Amino acid sequence: MTTPATASTRVRPFHRSPEHAYPMIVRGEGVWLWDDQGRRYLDAASGALVSNLGHGRADIAEVAARQARELDFVHGSQFTSPALHELAERLVPFAPPGHWRFFATSGGSEATESAIKLVRQVQVERGQGQRDIIVTRSRSYHGASLGGLAASGMGARKALYAPLLREEAFAKVPPPDPTADAHHDARALEALFDRVGAERIAAVMLEPVIGAAAPGLAPSAGTYEALRALCDHHGVLLVFDEVMSGLGRTGRNFALEHWGAVPDAIIVGKGLGAGYAPLGGVLVGEELVAAIAQGSGSFVHGFTYAGHPVSAAVGAKVLHVLVEEDLVAAAASAGERLQRELRAMAAMHPEVHDVRGFGLLIGLILGAPGEARPLRRPGYAGAVNRAALAAGLSVYPGGGGEPDGRGDHLLIGPPFSITTTESDELVERLDRALADARCHLATFDG
Ligand SMILES: Cc1ncc(COP(=O)(O)O)c(C=O)c1O
Repeated sequence: MTTPATASTRVRPFHRSPEHAYPMIVRGEGVWLWDDQGRRYLDAASGALVSNLGHGRADIAEVAARQARELDFVHGSQFTSPALHELAERLVPFAPPGHWRFFATSGGSEATESAIKLVRQVQVERGQGQRDIIVTRSRSYHGASLGGLAASGMGARKALYAPLLREEAFAKVPPPDPTADAHHDARALEALFDRVGAERIAAVMLEPVIGAAAPGLAPSAGTYEALRALCDHHGVLLVFDEVMSGLGRTGRNFALEHWGAVPDAIIVGKGLGAGYAPLGGVLVGEELVAAIAQGSGSFVHGFTYAGHPVSAAVGAKVLHVLVEEDLVAAAASAGERLQRELRAMAAMHPEVHDVRGFGLLIGLILGAPGEARPLRRPGYAGAVNRAALAAGLSVYPGGGGEPDGRGDHLLIGPPFSITTTESDELVERLDRALADARCHLATFDG
């Protein structure tokens, strides 16, 4: 009989950095993670803004186990399941008012791919086959798959794969300017429509509040209403990618509720499975469903594991918990407090240029160009991340969010269940990590 491999054997997974010694996390509870050495980490990024309900919830684990015992799998080309129906029944009332249907996937990138293919097929079904361009932002992240990556505006994640990406299918508008008036973004989009030809455009796909590419960045009030009107005028579909910002993360059920525009489709992921199962999908407006139902009759797309009963049961339970425990309101108030405390802390760190965000989707912008102390060292966020891990804190580092493609940042987004004591501990550990990383910066700058 063979014994399972352990961390000490030579058989290892292929990690992102194959030779890096990743901490071996063996347990999670609430905002805390424990490694096999007994060290405790405060998960200030909920993984990658995934574990919205916190770690280690037995009630969700039990739902998953029960579902696996009852019905493990059916393929979506032949069957459906009660778990998938229950997920849709809970998700639709959680979404903005509208006639939605839910198309399930196993994560955010699959969901983005699905939305890209959906808008293309809908336009073809409507006799608009010439519409072969999707407009996205030059600062955005929509997924690691080749379609999602081509749609994204995040140089560092794309450069290596540029020859494989069909870039011309994704026309890019500049990132939003929160200091500009409501029509600034709409004017930029209108200029792009004119340049590309509005009749060529199938859809505009945006993160209402930007996540990994420029954390917490969003346009001013009224902008999305203006975009909606522009899209309607030109027969262009509007899609919001709420993989990161959705499911309560910004203190509203969906980030789009901070504005007054409802899109034709909403992409979800991350917080829907909340880390307990791989799950994502697209809320699709009934008009889009009708275009396919009354046209060719089927969406030419699907993933084998889409609508997996265990993931669906977990998603339905996550929605139940979000509502029962009033966790979206908790995210709003915890976010307000944490942002206030982070701003107070940032005042003591001249390299923190800005703290911005919505609810518990918070960006710490490190020394943007033009400031008194610009950081010219890409990778500074990585140095803060290492110092944070040493201080028992997990954050989400990134870069390239500034309009010129420079800049370093941290994404902070703890579970919604974070207590005030834990929130203070997060700020205190981050304060220490920034101070430690500043010593490295001094070394860099000689
Ligand atoms: C806005 C957005 N869309 C799509 C994705 C891709 O999701 P996943 O990594 O789950 O495939 C992400 C992931 O960070 C995201 O933030």
